[in-house]
Amino acid sequence: MRLDHVRGEGFLSFRDKFEQKLADLGLVLVIGDNGAGKSALFIESILWAFFGETIREKVNPAEWKADKIINLSALKKGCYIAVKFAVSGKGYEILRARKHHEHGSGVSLREDSGQDISGESIRETNAKIETLIGMNFEAFTHSAIFAQNFKRFTQCTDAERRAILEEFQQGQVFTEARKRATDGHLKAQEKKYELLGQVDVHEGVISELDRQLAGLNSKLTDRQYHFEKETEEHEDKVKRTRQNIKEAMPEIIALNAKMTDAERRVIHAKTIVMSPDQRAAKVDDRANAKAQIQQYTLAINDADVAVRGLKKRHDHFTPGDACVECLRGMTGGEVTAYKKLIKIQIVSQQDFGKERRERLKEIRTLLSGIENTLKHDDAHRESYLTFQREWAEFERKRDKLESEIEILQERLKSLSAHGKQLRQRVDEVEEQIASVILSKNGNIGILKRARKNLTAALRRVDMHDFWLKGFGTYGVKEFMFKQALGFINERLIYFADCITAGEISVQLEINAKGKIEPVVVIYGGADSYIGASGGQEKRVDLCISLALQSLVEAGSQKCNIAVFDEFDGALDQAGLYMFIEFLKKEAEKKGSVVVMTHNTDLKIQFDAVKKIQHQDGVSKIESGI
Ligand SMILES: Nc1ncnc2c1ncn2[C@@H]1O[C@H](COP(=O)(O)OP(=O)(O)OP(=O)(O)O)[C@@H](O)[C@H]1O
Ligand SMILES: [Mg+2]
Repeated sequence: MRLDHVRGEGFLSFRDKFEQKLADLGLVLVIGDNGAGKSALFIESILWAFFGETIREKVNPAEWKADKIINLSALKKGCYIAVKFAVSGKGYEILRARKHHEHGSGVSLREDSGQDISGESIRETNAKIETLIGMNFEAFTHSAIFAQNFKRFTQCTDAERRAILEEFQQGQVFTEARKRATDGHLKAQEKKYELLGQVDVHEGVISELDRQLAGLNSKLTDRQYHFEKETEEHEDKVKRTRQNIKEAMPEIIALNAKMTDAERRVIHAKTIVMSPDQRAAKVDDRANAKAQIQQYTLAINDADVAVRGLKKRHDHFTPGDACVECLRGMTGGEVTAYKKLIKIQIVSQQDFGKERRERLKEIRTLLSGIENTLKHDDAHRESYLTFQREWAEFERKRDKLESEIEILQERLKSLSAHGKQLRQRVDEVEEQIASVILSKNGNIGILKRARKNLTAALRRVDMHDFWLKGFGTYGVKEFMFKQALGFINERLIYFADCITAGEISVQLEINAKGKIEPVVVIYGGADSYIGASGGQEKRVDLCISLALQSLVEAGSQKCNIAVFDEFDGALDQAGLYMFIEFLKKEAEKKGSVVVMTHNTDLKIQFDAVKKIQHQDGVSKIESGI
């Protein structure tokens, strides 16, 4: 980081607007009376701008109030500090203000382009600034500033020392990494338990499905056995039934043929047989013929009787016999005449008889014809009935066979339905098995995935375990501390040599309790920091402070300025001389080394002198004297 320039107004004793260049000052001496504003200008203003805190506040946090940095004689105007600086060659400006009439209260961070890159809140902007410069208040004060009254590294607790080193080493990365590893570990553990639960559930489901499968398989075997057994029996029955049907069929065909034949004959007989009317007429004719025969027979008989009576009269009538009408005795002539008449009557009667006989003969012939016809009709009727009976018999037999076949076919149907049912029962179980297998395969798939994920989760747990340990107290951080201490100790040897000419040896070590401890040996003197004199302490602190600065610089957070605020108080002449010689080299390397002291004898050693005036409670910067 390169600090370029600081300006401000209303800050502590600097009531009016002020400006101070910070870059490339060389080795500069800042002088001024007590309370002139030296520390305020070169330390407090910068700290407040970057971090919103001052050494004053840090030393007396309980009594500190935010408004205390506002100049008391310009309270209404408020205060602000703006610092121009660059990180990795890129320029920025921070402007922090409190109740300032122009800038209000708050902090802004801008790029050189004017682009405001502040956060949403002061806290967020503060965090952004710390991230940008890679240092917090502690790191900054322990690296770039050797401040008055401020707790030195030697006076810090182990935790504070570690925090400072961590900050210098960007150790918060490891703290963050550990936090992330902890989070990751937690998440991985949660995932692990979730997956273990899933594996458990699916294993349970699979074993349940296996149990179901075992049951279904034995059911299937059972049903298949019955299916095969019953199918065999059924096939037998079906075969027999089909055979029966097959055998019955020719019989039916024959019966149908017979029926056709009988039907033909019936139809034929029906055409020959008289109709009931015809037959009734014939029977009537017969009765008539018989009645006529009887009538004619009687008439013939009567005629014969008449002929016989007439013949007798004819033969036996003699003259004198009484006339049949007048009962007087008749003469011979009358008798002859009478006999003639009788003869005519006889002939007439005989003719009548003859004619009746002939007619009788005709009627008898007719009757015989009728009788014959009726006889034939009877015969035809008989054969018609016989044919009909035969047809009916054939039909009955055929119907019987057909209904038998129907029964057989019904049986066949029911057998095939039963067969289907048996097949269905087997299919049903097979379907159930298929569905259970499908479900099992699905579960196996999920289980496989869950196991795979579990393996990955376990690996993640292990990995986070590893990183947890790695980023834990005794992991990378410890390694980092050791590395840092190694580096610091090397630098301490160098600085102790520069500043104390080897009189004092300072090393930072991790003691048996794991605490960072300064090990100080003063040749010909105390063997610890506690036993050292004030000046020796001061030199130890300077060495450590310089070593810490080196550590910061080694971490590419080089600062172009170092401020030493009244470091010289406890140093003897020789020590002071050595230290200023060292500072000259530092100023060449860094660009700016600011030294505040009341020892004006030192002026000659410096590139420039700045005097801070404090008059009527107001500080002003006066250039070189
Ligand atoms: N709110 C304030 N308003 C006005 N002046 C203030 C305010 N707060 C502190 N001061 C004064 O500002 C000055 C700050 O002095 P500073 O600490 O910078 O002195 P210094 O030059 O470093 O002195 P020393 O040599 O004693 O360290 C002091 O005089 C102090 O009394
Ligand atoms: Mg001071």
